[in-house]
Amino acid sequence: MKKLEDMDVKDKIILLRCDFNVPINHGVIVDDYRIKESLETINYLITNNCKIVIFSHLGKIKTRADKEKNSLKIVYNRLKQLIDTNISFCPDTRGALLENMVQNLKSKEIVLVENTRYEDLNGELESKCDENLSKYWASLGDIFVFDAFGSSHRKHASTFGIGEYIPACIGFLVEKEINILNNALKEKDKVILLGGSKIDDKTKLIKNLINNCSYLLI
Ligand code: 3PG
Repeated sequence: MKKLEDMDVKDKIILLRCDFNVPINHGVIVDDYRIKESLETINYLITNNCKIVIFSHLGKIKTRADKEKNSLKIVYNRLKQLIDTNISFCPDTRGALLENMVQNLKSKEIVLVENTRYEDLNGELESKCDENLSKYWASLGDIFVFDAFGSSHRKHASTFGIGEYIPACIGFLVEKEINILNNALKEKDKVILLGGSKIDDKTKLIKNLINNCSYLLI
């Protein structure tokens, strides 16, 4: 995949997929590491006079109650504190309001779109990488930048689908993580320590790594 610096992003409308799936406890973000890690790419786009449309998921959305708990508004409030530019929040994931907000963006401004998984209440359109949804989101911008490293294993409309219809590249965070992983995997006689939850998602990874290390500790 192309890298951000290979693309001519100047003055373009950039659709940026971040992973803002941050831990929240009683309405408070308890760790904003993922938001801070996305700033290098965002600031680069601002420096290049881009109009920036950011997409992310937050949690899993299976019921209307999940929607209440998982609005990205809380991330928007944190992002405003971390970035020195005009940022607005679009409470819709499609439709006239979103289209107008994108049309009216000025250079260096950002719109953060509501949780992409709200589309999952409508037949899992996001998680099943629905073609029409992917095309619709792609129609909003000129270039797709994928910087949601924590969601690289998801073939969803906002992580994968958009990039099928407009020029696409990876952002600085994904590039950095790939380099770190590649270098670590080149080491001989290594011990790999694997943590985290969601074991179902990790079985493929375990099968892949197990022949490439001396010990795999889970
Ligand atoms: C994560 O936190 O593991 C990523 O954001 C992916 O989230 P998901 O497992 O809900 O797709």
